[in-house]
Amino acid sequence: MIELKNISKTFNRGEINEVQALQNIDLHIAEGTFLVLVGSNGSGKTTLLNVISGALTPSRGQIIFKGKEVTNLPEHKRSAWVARVFQDPLGGTAPDLSILDNFRLAALRTRSKGLRIGINEGFKQKVRDTIAELGLGLEDQLQQPMGTLSGGQRQALTLLMSVMDHTDILLLDEPTAALDPNAAAVVLRTAQKIIRRYRLTTIMITHNLSESLQYGNRLIQMNRGKIVRDLDQDAKDQLKPEEMYQWFG
Ligand SMILES: Nc1ncnc2c1ncn2[C@@H]1O[C@H](COP(=O)(O)OP(=O)(O)O)[C@@H](O)[C@H]1O
Ligand SMILES: [Mg+2]
Repeated sequence: MIELKNISKTFNRGEINEVQALQNIDLHIAEGTFLVLVGSNGSGKTTLLNVISGALTPSRGQIIFKGKEVTNLPEHKRSAWVARVFQDPLGGTAPDLSILDNFRLAALRTRSKGLRIGINEGFKQKVRDTIAELGLGLEDQLQQPMGTLSGGQRQALTLLMSVMDHTDILLLDEPTAALDPNAAAVVLRTAQKIIRRYRLTTIMITHNLSESLQYGNRLIQMNRGKIVRDLDQDAKDQLKPEEMYQWFG
């Protein structure tokens, strides 16, 4: 699905504050993978997502998506196949607008101009059905302002908005960091359903070790801009929590 070949990213090159945020990263992510990415602060996790989304251009190396090189493709042109969700559950949503209007806005953002129609009854039904299917219990509250929902509900809906119109790759940067454990569980269970339903290839950054053991089918640890561990499903299944704690010394 997506491949990173010898990707490096250096910030402030040649200056006293030069940082090698990514160093010679080789990574191939197969379609349908749910990759969980861990690593201490500053290890390059967010930068890795940034070069995949196109928010940053790598200093060196190539990015290949479905066999085509996309290294220098700008972010807005990748938005047809990459969706991103950040920590802040309100980021990217309008709190005063209804749930439905937020879905409309999200659809307008990702659709090409030619497709800016059809945000009508049919669209409303599709939003209602999808919300119902995910078991969020909000399908009869589509007119409720987004800002009145709990953090977990908002984040779960944000996730859904970002993928509903079609995407191939979902990038989650600490999506539960701002949530309490119950809300975090709601969001992650929703994420898992969405990932299966839309057959998404996912990378999720988390600082929560139990989340990283429970979710996903591949586990990667970064340290100082490099991939230092890469566990497949079997290795991940055998990983014990206490073993993983030791990764972080
Ligand atoms: N835009 C930037 N300009 C300069 N340095 C940056 C920038 N973005 C990230 N960095 C640096 O790159 C390193 C990796 O950062 P980041 O990818 O955000 O780490 P993580 O997400 O793992 O905490 C850090 O040292 C950080 O300070
Ligand atoms: Mg980060």
